[in-house]
Amino acid sequence: MTTAEPTVQDKAELTYPMARGCPFHPPAEYGRLQREEPFARVRLWDGTSPYLVTNYNDIKLILSHPGFSAQAINPSYPHVFEGRKAADLADRSFLRMDNPEHDRQRRMVTREFTVKKINALRPVMQALVDRLLDAYEKMPQGSDFVEHVAAPLPTEVISNLLGVPLGDHEIFHRATRIQFGTKSTPDEVRASLKEISQYLSDLIDKKAESPQDDIISRLVHEQLLPGHVDRETLINIIRLLLSAGHQTTQSMTAMGVLTLLQNPDQLALMRADPELIPHAVEEILRFTSPLHIGARRVALEDVDINGHLVKKGEGVICSTPAANRDETLFPEPDQFNIERNASQHVAFGYGFHQCLGQVLARAELQIVYESVFKRFPNLRLAVPFEALQFRHEMFVYGVHELPLAWD
Ligand code: HEM
Repeated sequence: MTTAEPTVQDKAELTYPMARGCPFHPPAEYGRLQREEPFARVRLWDGTSPYLVTNYNDIKLILSHPGFSAQAINPSYPHVFEGRKAADLADRSFLRMDNPEHDRQRRMVTREFTVKKINALRPVMQALVDRLLDAYEKMPQGSDFVEHVAAPLPTEVISNLLGVPLGDHEIFHRATRIQFGTKSTPDEVRASLKEISQYLSDLIDKKAESPQDDIISRLVHEQLLPGHVDRETLINIIRLLLSAGHQTTQSMTAMGVLTLLQNPDQLALMRADPELIPHAVEEILRFTSPLHIGARRVALEDVDINGHLVKKGEGVICSTPAANRDETLFPEPDQFNIERNASQHVAFGYGFHQCLGQVLARAELQIVYESVFKRFPNLRLAVPFEALQFRHEMFVYGVHELPLAWD
């Protein structure tokens, strides 16, 4: 009897995602993989075995190489969570498109997120943060910071920019909870996508009739009505802008506050020197890496990545959290140190799909961290650290609830 050659799937001994040992650090296995197996086969829930790529330079090369596709409909695209597969397959936004169409659509909105535009919005964001903190301060000690500050902040900022009426924000909270929750059923995801599309289609009609100074009005009048884009594509662009910044910024707001509270020496440095706040934001992004599942791609052709051949049709998961702990770039990577230069982190991705909203996210985070610690000099956790529940099972990592005390 002859023994059959092991298949690619048999060779994958590691299952993915892997468990974290500590809520602040990626799985310990990543360090070993970086040193010994930078392209490791991992087994997913559906039996497929994409590569898990962990080195910073390999990841940057893949994410900026035209030989890799971001389209989730590719048969070997790594669908890491069963519950999210339906949403990935249904996603027709430019996040899941390749060039040239990706660039064409992205260019329609890049000018809305420039440094100049976002800086002009800082007073609006500051007023919004102050309003949320005013309300939070009046609540009982132990109130959840995620629900009352971190979650509403990005929704209100992006809805304001887009021109979504304030009273309708709850629709988007609900939709992102369903679309990003790994326990949502495919039916729930499809129903939620349908609800949002219908809502946005109605909003487009309203903006066509009475335009205002907002992104949706400009897209309707400059792109849709002259025929550069059809209604469905426009809805997909708006939906992406609405959803991409929600859970990511929410998670960073709460995780940043928690990380600073757990590192009082670093918090003291930041309080003593507000010039350090932008550095603190970069270090929190590097250290926390909220998109902990990484960026997923499929090779469209055979591609050589620093001496490693990825064959046409193979899936890869680029672990940005692992890259952000690569010690060749960030010495003592597991130390949280706001004085280091962390600006080369890849928490916003890299290459073609690098985060479009990063200037906005940075501004929101700088404003919220400064305001929170100024407002509450005695801020602390209202429950033992061990009682906190983390979002291991979600695409965007973070803490589910953050009860704080301040008097
Ligand atoms: C701290 C908060 C944020 C983090 C950590 C983050 C992270 C990321 C990452 C890693 C990607 C690339 C995904 C990939 O390559 O597959 C991305 C893409 C994107 N992000 Fe963000 N993001 C944040 C906030 C925002 C905000 C506030 C917006 C608001 C507009 C936004 C809009 C986008 C868009 C539109 C894309 C798709 C870009 C493209 O495909 O060309 N993000 N983000």
